[in-house]
Amino acid sequence: MFNLILFGPPGSGKGTQSERLIAKYGLKHLSTGDLLRNEIAGQTPLGMAVKNLMAEGKLVPDEIVIEMIDAAIENNTRVNGFLFDGFPRTTAQAEALDKLLAQKGTEIAIVLALQVSQEELIKRLLNRGRTSDRSDDVNEEVIAARISEYEKKTAAVAEHYKKFGKVEYIKGEGNVDDIFDLLCKEIDEKKVA
Ligand code: AP5
Repeated sequence: MFNLILFGPPGSGKGTQSERLIAKYGLKHLSTGDLLRNEIAGQTPLGMAVKNLMAEGKLVPDEIVIEMIDAAIENNTRVNGFLFDGFPRTTAQAEALDKLLAQKGTEIAIVLALQVSQEELIKRLLNRGRTSDRSDDVNEEVIAARISEYEKKTAAVAEHYKKFGKVEYIKGEGNVDDIFDLLCKEIDEKKVA
């Protein structure tokens, strides 16, 4: 199995690049943001419990997302590997993920970290907020809260994987195709090694 984490702040292009990467490498896309939004759309008890937190740009409690990912890994046994998007977002989530994968006899091969300036992130998300129905793109205050959560709790995840020499930084600004090529180059090098 080849498992990768596409990492980066809100609006850095994780979702955009994930779609292309899963098509090219045949990986199973696991986006905790998408899974949570599906719960909200389905008006499930879990969805109702997280709705306000997400609309405020705050992280959902670790136990909820870890349980969701555990179930998703269990339900996808015959896959080439997983692409984790928006997960892990705290050190506790990273440690739980490492444990879950170890139980399956596998591990994270690489963490690809997209780097985008704060100005560009805000511009992208406000722009999407004009047309999408994402409740967390509606205004600059919520976007700032998401970026602040990233800095306070999520940036540490890169430090966790750096200890194992697994993090590669990619400039996430500019043409989407060019960024995709840079990501593929890192994956191909890792797959050959
Ligand atoms: P999540 O759904 O993970 O969202 P996010 O991390 O805030 O990121 P986005 O989806 O907004 O951005 P992205 O990096 O995927 O970029 P995208 O490709 O979409 O999380 C949402 C919420 O769910 C969290 O705030 C939290 O509440 C909760 N949650 C989720 N996972 C959790 C977890 N593990 N633990 C706790 N809580 C969790 O691109 C953004 C925009 O930019 C798009 O319009 C796109 O078209 C555009 N764009 C992309 N690339 C480029 C480019 N190169 N140039 C110009 N524009 C571009």
